[in-house]
Amino acid sequence: MTEQIKGYAYGQVGQSPVSIADLDLLKKTVLFGEEDEKNLRLAGEVLKDQTNEVLDLWYGFVGGNEHLVHYFTKNGQPNMDYLTAVRARFGQWIMDLCNKPYDQIWLNYQYEIALRHHSIKKNKTDDVDTVPIIHYRYMVAFIFPITATIKGFLAKKGHDTETVEAMYSAWFKAVTLTVILWTYPYINKNEF
Ligand code: HEM
Repeated sequence: MTEQIKGYAYGQVGQSPVSIADLDLLKKTVLFGEEDEKNLRLAGEVLKDQTNEVLDLWYGFVGGNEHLVHYFTKNGQPNMDYLTAVRARFGQWIMDLCNKPYDQIWLNYQYEIALRHHSIKKNKTDDVDTVPIIHYRYMVAFIFPITATIKGFLAKKGHDTETVEAMYSAWFKAVTLTVILWTYPYINKNEF
């Protein structure tokens, strides 16, 4: 049940500064269309009972890299409660990326997640005291691992290569779109 995920506030956050019209043009720019929406829904079906394994892989990657786990630390010590709390919301995000309509409510929550990575709101949701910002460069860099690692999971439910490729491209476009929206607070006024 989504309401039991601590700190998950979908539908309960402020307005995104990015408009639906801007989002439409971004979608056009990453070649995201109706076929992609269909393939994302299918990816959601394929991934729904695999989210724990996906998260194990991603957390293994973060945990195995000191410069990444750094963002969950205070004085060099990882905050395990923080890692666990974020993990639950991360699992929900996989499902939301695949299943939610990209409407005003979705757009608003992308802005909220943006703020939560930036110094404006990092640490606040979980009331922790770890490093104050995730640096911009890693937000963009994460597009590759978050994309490349999903393919194996998309292929696990017996779909043909063409269908797996279609789900994979839709996922790649959706992650790219999302990360663009998440970088908003890092960009100078009028330069986004
Ligand atoms: C929060 C995904 C980049 C560290 C989150 C959440 C999601 C997520 C879904 C929870 C959102 C919510 O509160 O509902 C992603 C994706 C990324 C990305 C898809 C890029 C493709 C990064 C990077 C780091 C990072 C590079 C650095 C290791 C964190 C931390 C939080 C968080 C520390 C908690 C922020 C807070 O205090 O609220 N991320 N993330 N993320 N992520 Fe990321």
